[in-house]
Amino acid sequence: MRLLWTISIVPYLFWPANADFTFMQHRALSQHEAPPPAEFTVPFTAKVPRRKSKLATGRWEMRSFREATVSLDGANFETEYLTNITVGGQNFSVIVDTGSSDTWIIQKGFMCSDANGNPVSESTCAFGSQGFDREESKTFQGPFPNALCNLTYGSGFFLNGPIGFDNIAIGGLSVSHQEICLPTQARYEGDGIFSGILGLAFPAGINVFNTTVPANASDGNRLPFDPFFFSAVKEKKVKRPFFSVALNRGTFGQESNDQFDPNLGFLSFGGIAPVPVVNTSVTVPIQGYQGDSIFNSTPSDSPDAEFVFYTINVDSYTFPRSSGLLTASNNTILDTGTPVNIVPTDVAAAYTAAFNPPATLIPTTNGLQIYVVDCNATAPDFLVTIGNTTFSIDPQDQGPGTLAVDPDSVLVLGAVFLRNVVATFNPMAREVTLTQRTKY
Ligand SMILES: *[C@@H]1O[C@H](CO)[C@@H](O)[C@H](O)[C@H]1NC(C)=O
Ligand SMILES: *[C@@H]1O[C@H](CO)[C@@H](O)[C@H](O)[C@H]1NC(C)=O
Ligand SMILES: *[C@@H]1O[C@H](CO)[C@@H](O)[C@H](O)[C@H]1NC(C)=O
Ligand SMILES: *[C@@H]1O[C@H](CO)[C@@H](O)[C@H](O)[C@H]1NC(C)=O
Ligand SMILES: *[C@@H]1O[C@H](CO)[C@@H](O)[C@H](O)[C@H]1NC(C)=O
Ligand SMILES: *[C@@H]1O[C@H](CO)[C@@H](O)[C@H](O)[C@H]1NC(C)=O
Ligand SMILES: *[C@@H]1O[C@H](CO)[C@@H](O)[C@H](O)[C@H]1NC(C)=O
Ligand SMILES: *[C@@H]1O[C@H](CO)[C@@H](O)[C@H](O)[C@H]1NC(C)=O
Ligand SMILES: *[C@@H]1O[C@H](CO)[C@@H](O)[C@H](O)[C@H]1NC(C)=O
Repeated sequence: MRLLWTISIVPYLFWPANADFTFMQHRALSQHEAPPPAEFTVPFTAKVPRRKSKLATGRWEMRSFREATVSLDGANFETEYLTNITVGGQNFSVIVDTGSSDTWIIQKGFMCSDANGNPVSESTCAFGSQGFDREESKTFQGPFPNALCNLTYGSGFFLNGPIGFDNIAIGGLSVSHQEICLPTQARYEGDGIFSGILGLAFPAGINVFNTTVPANASDGNRLPFDPFFFSAVKEKKVKRPFFSVALNRGTFGQESNDQFDPNLGFLSFGGIAPVPVVNTSVTVPIQGYQGDSIFNSTPSDSPDAEFVFYTINVDSYTFPRSSGLLTASNNTILDTGTPVNIVPTDVAAAYTAAFNPPATLIPTTNGLQIYVVDCNATAPDFLVTIGNTTFSIDPQDQGPGTLAVDPDSVLVLGAVFLRNVVATFNPMAREVTLTQRTKY
């Protein structure tokens, strides 16, 4: 069952004319050209938490994914992809997230709160450290006056606090004067390892506001800052404007034993992540949005479209009962921070019916409907066609707990898909290259 969706909720799309980025300045790849090797690479460490208390309550706490969310249930398959970063000389483990833009580290002395904002014990938030200590950094600048970061994630978690600037280093790639959010209030349930998030999506997804009161944060006072990778490009710290992720699947042993695994893939900068790949690769445009809200907008190729997430068009999903179904799904977000794939409702229904034995749809006490499938059921093949190029998902990734649908039509290709490809992002050219990995 899902516990962590890191797609950040950007209530409205607003971005003041972004003068200092010329997005098309970097040459795009041709459709089947392989991205160059990376300049900087760090491994993903990860933890596969088994949170028994949460499993027992079986809660679904998704703010935007509420009401009628259904999911293949049956496991708590919830690997988080973490890496180590250094902020002002202090080391932290963070979630690597292509589904949000803000980079934050919980601040020392923060208040952990419940859903209503009432204080609860700091251990409830379960961060992996006491947090960033401004006093201990020789390079910290801030707090930036009259500014507030106000973050809300799809899982119902929220954080707010001041922002500042500091040096951030990740595996040899070091950016100076990076804007960073340092929450002093958090409603969060971590895993005891990570202390924040590295947001890799577009500047329009930054949630910083020109106010000190969370309730006064609004589109009208949104402040623009560059996310980490955009700063790296601007500071010319990478020769080529690519970053790339290869997510490995955890082993059954890790799933069963709450292990910390130091070898779950790679985050690379400047080129493609170093894992074996096959000759199936495609470069497709990232989709912009037009409209006044991200949940009420249409994909757009227009020059004034807003770019927020790594959103692509899926030509089709193919599985034993897919023929005759319209399975094209535009507006699908590539998100390392969402463990599952979130697909259209009729795709989920037909796909779950193709399990042997088939999944059954059961209502839950909180009004949701959930597909439940035997742990020993056989998962049908599942293919994803993007840019006329077909990628397969290994049945090992298609077990219980790996699929969801969302009533607000947020569609996601999450870790279940991303474990089967290398995804190389070129946000400057607004493209992503997907390359099928050698079976592993
Ligand atoms: C990250 O830091 C932790 C704690 O220092 C260490 O155990 C782990 O091996 C590090 N991971 C990587 C990939 O360097
Ligand atoms: C933080 O991480 C860097 C890079 O891995 C390492 O060189 C340094 O010793 C670490 N510092 C502390 C205080 O652990
Ligand atoms: C923030 O708002 C105040 C007025 O409330 C304005 O004077 C100031 O210029 C704004 N700051 C930024 C950075 O936009
Ligand atoms: C917040 O908004 C309210 C109502 O618009 C206003 O009265 C108040 O001064 C604002 N507070 C700050 C600190 O901006
Ligand atoms: C600020 O955070 C609060 C609490 O999560 C949320 O209700 C509100 O919508 C956020 N405001 C903006 C503009 O993001
Ligand atoms: C790889 O794919 C390209 C484009 O489809 C094709 O031209 C090339 O011959 C393929 N190479 C191999 C070794 O299959
Ligand atoms: C997806 O978008 C493309 C244009 O980018 C359009 O031709 C196609 O009809 C859309 N498909 C769906 C299912 O909306
Ligand atoms: C699957 O597991 C169930 C018990 O959960 C058992 O009754 C059934 O026989 C198993 N099916 C197969 C094909 O092993
Ligand atoms: C996919 O193939 C169709 C028909 O051959 C073609 O019109 C279309 O341009 C192709 N799309 C891409 C992204 O190459």
